[in-house]
Amino acid sequence: MSKVDLEKYFKPNLKEARKRSTDRIEELKFQLSDAHQKIGVNKTYMIHTYGCQGNEADSESIAGILELMGFTKAVSEATSDVIIMNTCAIRENAENRVWGELGRLKAYKKTNPDLIIGLAGCMAQEENVVERVLKKYQHIDLVFGTHNIYKLPEYIETALFSKERVIEVYSQEGEIVENLPKVRNHKFKAWVNIMFGCDEFCTYCIVPYTRGKERSRSKEEIILEVQELVEQGYKEITLLGQNVNAYGKDFKDSNYTFGDLLHDLDQLDIKRIRFTTSHPHDLDQKTMRAMKDSKHIMPFFHLPVQSGSNEVLKKMNRHYTKESYLKVLNELKETVPGIAVTTDIIVGFPGETDADFLETLDLVEKAQFEGAFTFVFSKREGTPAAKFVDDTKEETKKERLYLLNDRTNAGYLKGNQRFLGQTVKVLVDGVSKNNDDVLAGYSEHNKLVNFKGDKSLIGQIVEVKISVAKTWFLLGDLL
Ligand code: SAH
Ligand code: SF4
Ligand code: F3S
Repeated sequence: MSKVDLEKYFKPNLKEARKRSTDRIEELKFQLSDAHQKIGVNKTYMIHTYGCQGNEADSESIAGILELMGFTKAVSEATSDVIIMNTCAIRENAENRVWGELGRLKAYKKTNPDLIIGLAGCMAQEENVVERVLKKYQHIDLVFGTHNIYKLPEYIETALFSKERVIEVYSQEGEIVENLPKVRNHKFKAWVNIMFGCDEFCTYCIVPYTRGKERSRSKEEIILEVQELVEQGYKEITLLGQNVNAYGKDFKDSNYTFGDLLHDLDQLDIKRIRFTTSHPHDLDQKTMRAMKDSKHIMPFFHLPVQSGSNEVLKKMNRHYTKESYLKVLNELKETVPGIAVTTDIIVGFPGETDADFLETLDLVEKAQFEGAFTFVFSKREGTPAAKFVDDTKEETKKERLYLLNDRTNAGYLKGNQRFLGQTVKVLVDGVSKNNDDVLAGYSEHNKLVNFKGDKSLIGQIVEVKISVAKTWFLLGDLL
């Protein structure tokens, strides 16, 4: 095999990715060129998506672009002409899963030598990942990152016809690309990006490097997208951003912020509005008031706290204390009575002591979270925390996670029990995982509800009287 010419590729660089320009981010409209329109005819694709809702939304655009090029969805990997892995870099175990899958896909090249395997998403933004792919994963034909999805038609063309490997990852974010086609995964629930990137630089987190500078979509584009969704019969939208509360802060000529956007979207006829994720230090009164006064914004809030120790929060660069977090939380609960709040917590951050951990448990007690995603700290190369002294035993970290989960699970149960005997509105998602006769959906407070009913109700909002509350779900009867 000839020596790979590493220079011709456009590889990522985490140091570059850390930089933040003051340039105004331009808007660009995606358009498929004539040359790319029929490339995919009689060919099929498959996309595997890992990570957050941001990635799920990106996969809908990747699918949209491929279908516009003529590709159709494959029924199996074995019959696919293009397989795209849209990956997540948030923790080491997320990456290990992908490496395993990438290795497994190699076998399909034996039966279909023309198969194109692509690596996309946040892992593609990491230098060490791209180096490893270049050296050890010769069967991967295409690597592109989170900033250049719109260039996929060119990449596919090159990979298919010139049989060259295409490696193109930009470390600096580019334009905000509008008009991307989408193949949405749901018929009545939709993701709507309101902003991209993150400027928070929490010291443990890779996202500001993989997603670039914070940049907001224009209010007009967002409203237009939601209006179209309403016309297509969508019932629920989830506004997406790594820190939705920072929406609009990058607008140079207006003071329009997240609270304003919520208020304006509430005027449209979409039945349910959700959003994720929020940063506690950017959560303002305007947002809370928009929720309180709204008809369609759901009484649910995911407000990641990460730790209850002020020492650890400082080392994490979170810009708040345990006390100020609880203050904002209480304000939120007072403004929107009955709101359900969930969180994210990391244990085993470098230098976290038993006393720090006890502060976290105490905060969980005081905050009365109704759910939490809990993680053991994972070292991400290129982030500041990767260099922090980390002398806590893995065993201790695991023990902390078990103890914490015990508490947060109690919160889940308590949060569910408050709906016993009440009637809740459920958007019916589909049949239950375990039982075909049972329907499943989410209540306004984002509680999973199971009940007997006819499949024709899928996609409708129905009323269910709750009779049983378990830790992970509610049971009830259709009214
Ligand atoms: N922007 C969002 C979500 C970021 S990723 C937010 O700030 O809430 C989702 C969660 O993954 C984070 O809230 C954090 O709890 C966790 N996480 C991020 N980096 C991590 C790391 N290096 N190790 C362990 N957990 C991490
Ligand atoms: Fe990561 Fe912090 Fe940004 Fe969330 S706010 S994406 S945790 S850097
Ligand atoms: Fe993962 Fe990237 Fe989302 S790292 S959590 S896919 S922003």
